[in-house]
Amino acid sequence: MDVEIVGKFLSTLPDDDDHPYRTGPWRPQTTEWDADDLTALDGEIPHDLDGIYLRNTENPLHPAFSIYHPFDGDAMVHVVGFRDGKAFYRNRFVRTDGFLAENEAGEPLWPGLAEPVQWAKREHGWGARGLMKDASSTDVIVHRGVALTSFYQCGDLYRVDPYSANTLGKETWNGHFPSDWGVSAHPKVDNKTGELLFFNYSKQDPYLRYGVVDQNNELAHYVDVPLPGPRLPHDMAFTENYAILNDFPLFWDPKLLKHDAHLPRFYPDMPSRFAVLPRRGATADVRWFEADPTYVLHFTNAYEDGDEIVLDGFFEGGPQPVDTGTDSTKWEKIFRFLALDRLQTRLHRWRLNLVTGTVTEEQLSESITEFGTINADYATSDYRYIYAATGKPGWFLFDGLVKHDLFTGGLERYSLGDGVYGSEAQMAPRLGSTAEDDGYLVTLTTDMNADASYCLVFDAARVGDGPVCKLQLPERISSGTHSTWVPGAEMRRWDHAESAPNAVGL
Ligand SMILES: [Fe+2]
Repeated sequence: MDVEIVGKFLSTLPDDDDHPYRTGPWRPQTTEWDADDLTALDGEIPHDLDGIYLRNTENPLHPAFSIYHPFDGDAMVHVVGFRDGKAFYRNRFVRTDGFLAENEAGEPLWPGLAEPVQWAKREHGWGARGLMKDASSTDVIVHRGVALTSFYQCGDLYRVDPYSANTLGKETWNGHFPSDWGVSAHPKVDNKTGELLFFNYSKQDPYLRYGVVDQNNELAHYVDVPLPGPRLPHDMAFTENYAILNDFPLFWDPKLLKHDAHLPRFYPDMPSRFAVLPRRGATADVRWFEADPTYVLHFTNAYEDGDEIVLDGFFEGGPQPVDTGTDSTKWEKIFRFLALDRLQTRLHRWRLNLVTGTVTEEQLSESITEFGTINADYATSDYRYIYAATGKPGWFLFDGLVKHDLFTGGLERYSLGDGVYGSEAQMAPRLGSTAEDDGYLVTLTTDMNADASYCLVFDAARVGDGPVCKLQLPERISSGTHSTWVPGAEMRRWDHAESAPNAVGL
């Protein structure tokens, strides 16, 4: 491995920090690395693994005013690229406006999710809640060969070079980016059309909007999807012809909101509602479908089946986990809302009948999993496999991988082992792939036993057998949330550069 330190930042976090989402497997990094020719400790890098795995992490440089929430951390993007049986690694902070301003000040300037907005030290801020820092640390996708990072509460999309992880600036969509509301995490790219579908939400009427950016990066469509009040959507879905948005009964308590206090509550007597509209449809085209009350953080896929839209995602059996008094630490109690076992997240299918307007739904798996990904070539199609994470009980940490087989209802598991935590795994179709699971599953681990991080590559057809390749990263990385995979064939200059890491400078 050929390693070089390319950046080092000053952290103002306390030396005796005891916050579990800033220490241990969530310990943030301050160093930016370039590493080429990653060393394979076990196995060999497959020659038909070709493309880049990108992962966003919450990696704070400064403390919160009072209560740090793990979604507040500054974005650090990790890149692992594979070509010709070799691999390279890069990690960089995303240079958001908030990150740069706080570094200049040497302290926090905006309140986090668990703090009141009134604490902001600047008059300008971001997020549907208002006066937050747009950390851009939630999600990462690739559209038109450029990575875009995003923030769960809406904000700018930051353009990131997927080879170098260097920040290229904010996405403008040729001057039409909706900067007033920003864009939510989980914009979707339809690889078949080259379009990017997105939504955003606000405390202002009409509370939800939806848009389409075309393959030329033009904002081609942007419409209101009016809601009864402010909501907290986190994800959307799409089929070949439709976009699917949502209105779940978990939102800021309206009485408290009048006093500018933001407390999410679950209202179990209200239905879940799905909005279906043609992908270029008008507000008047929106149709609403009612379903059992829940909250869904993430959908895995949707497709059309005759008169029905099939929508798959993770149903939460306990969207607002109660304090059972059994939590072993105050931190476990405070952050029980992040634990998959407390949220009871199970794979679920909704069938929305476009003729009758009715919904039928079924649980697809007993197992508690979340952060599901699929072979992107099978998006909007009747698909078979979902790769998902299992969670360490009580914590926001992924302790294993699961492969759901939707045809058989079966499940294949791989446990990462005590003290080892993974990232959202992505399926990388093999060059010349001929089947849905003909490829590799890529994830990054935070290994507390070895005080190191590794990139693990699994054969997607045999996840339970364990990794076929284990690559050493320069330093132990922090846990985080979302990731993506971009095939080399979709990257600019990928096939022309002498070596993949040299194809930098979009
Ligand atoms: Fe998410």
